[in-house]
Amino acid sequence: CHGMHTRNSHTKITDDNQTSKLLNTTFGNIKAENQSLASTFDNFLNNRRKEATKTIIVEVQSSDSCNDLYSYCSSYGPIHLMHHYTVDKNHFFLVEFKNIESRKALMTAATHIHHQDIIPVQSQMFSFRNIAGQKKTKKIQLSSSDLANIHVPTINKPTVEKMSSALMNHTNDITKQMEILYDMWKLDDIGTRLRFFTAHQMENSFTSLFPNNIVLPFGSSVNGFGKKGCDLDLVMNLDNNIMEKQGSRLVFRTKSIVSDQRSQTKKTMELLSFIMQTFIPGISNVIRILKARVPIIKYDHLLTGLECDFSMTNMTAVYMSELLYIYGESCEFVRPLVFTIRQWASSVNITGVGTPGTTISNFQITLLVLFYLQQKKILPSINVLKSLSRPEDVRISETCDCTFLRNVSLFPIMKNKNNETLESLLTDFFVYYSTFDFSTKAISLRDGISLYKPNTDNLYICNPLEKALNVSKNVHATEVVRFIEAVRNAAELINEGNEKDSRGLLDIFAEKQPRKKITFFNKSFKRVNVADLFDDKINDEHKNNMTNEDIKKERIRKS
Ligand code: GTP
Ligand code: MG
Repeated sequence: CHGMHTRNSHTKITDDNQTSKLLNTTFGNIKAENQSLASTFDNFLNNRRKEATKTIIVEVQSSDSCNDLYSYCSSYGPIHLMHHYTVDKNHFFLVEFKNIESRKALMTAATHIHHQDIIPVQSQMFSFRNIAGQKKTKKIQLSSSDLANIHVPTINKPTVEKMSSALMNHTNDITKQMEILYDMWKLDDIGTRLRFFTAHQMENSFTSLFPNNIVLPFGSSVNGFGKKGCDLDLVMNLDNNIMEKQGSRLVFRTKSIVSDQRSQTKKTMELLSFIMQTFIPGISNVIRILKARVPIIKYDHLLTGLECDFSMTNMTAVYMSELLYIYGESCEFVRPLVFTIRQWASSVNITGVGTPGTTISNFQITLLVLFYLQQKKILPSINVLKSLSRPEDVRISETCDCTFLRNVSLFPIMKNKNNETLESLLTDFFVYYSTFDFSTKAISLRDGISLYKPNTDNLYICNPLEKALNVSKNVHATEVVRFIEAVRNAAELINEGNEKDSRGLLDIFAEKQPRKKITFFNKSFKRVNVADLFDDKINDEHKNNMTNEDIKKERIRKS
């Protein structure tokens, strides 16, 4: 079922005939001239992927190498921009040429260090060395427009301490605090470039065997809810053009290792993982988790500083990212609100703790926020978006129909947002979920209303694209109760903050929820001792499908 989507919108990118004018504004500083075009997910992906083809990264001694590197690279063609960044105190520059030919010419001139244990792999990743006795490239005078494209030094990742001190300047304005928080943490231009560059490296590494392969980032790297430093989720499709040439008489000769699709994918991933670990520069700590429902290869990228989760033939996940992306594009409240609530959830230990699957994830929190905004009549339901879809919006993934209106400028006008502020929406979010009946109700973004749960899962959030599935199937009862207690607590704190001297958001963030043995409510909301809940059978699919060896490796990696 590779590439079952009906319209091939992510075509292979090899040319350089696009301008930078359409670059998306959400992730960078570059202003788009045509907003409605730029805000479609396909344009965003295609433009960022094209940038990656014209990009190299170069390890240098320090940021002082900037002019020297600029001069050297300029001798191969005009440079569009240079960005300094560090990974574990090692210094790098990301250099994007204006034309792909310049990048190709530079690669032709590059060499390998002559050494017996070197495998002479070529990629768009280099080190910049000084050669004793060799004349340095003549230093060119950088014009002011050149300088405008060079981003040095690196802006360090924000910390919770830095965020707190920035928020302290606006304690009486929660809306302003939410905007600051979003601006501080949202994925920036270099973060997005490095993610697409890392995806491009994987794609490029396998092009001789699979010329139509495509590797796309998905999840928070592209859905508009990405935080600086978030992981990179990648999906590879080995033949992105398979549906395009179904009428051809000539059929490629191929091999098949095993009979069914799932085993084939697992075998392919196993083989790819060996190549990745052995040959591909920067890839390290490769861990295969192939028995999980969605098999993945985890790895660290030492040259881009990213933690990556690599999967195959999972276009549904890309369309899910697109859905979240367009919801974020459609209303200016969505992203700052989601960021604030995710930050709050992490600070009160709702997310980022415990066994994955049994606790509430960032993805589930995001869906809770979007559903709440549907109840406020600020976002349309997926059914409405489906009913408004045009022929060019049709997408069928390997598992389901992912058709919905993809052009944000055609979204129905939601008048209700005019009466709201970020602060009022945040407060109401806490109030809304304080009284939500999680014991009997399921959350359905597709219908835009809550439904009765079809089973006894503790938390029921219908998968927005595959309604019969529950994305929070394995969340433990105690976690739901902790969530309810935390939202009630936050609602009270915000309310108290209005009456006395408050620190705004900092009041709700500071209030930690210790993981202690206290009395909670069970699924039917009768009071029970939490120890009883811990004895519940946990159906953790992810965990069950990992071998002991996988789990051990994962623990070592995490530690
Ligand atoms: P962070 O990585 O925490 O910043 O957020 P994320 O949205 O990237 O989450 P994660 O890396 O856990 O998952 C990546 C993507 O996979 C999500 O954005 C979803 O599209 C999808 N995903 C994650 N969890 C689930 C799940 O339980 N069910 C389904 N169907 N998709 C999921
Ligand atoms: Mg992720």
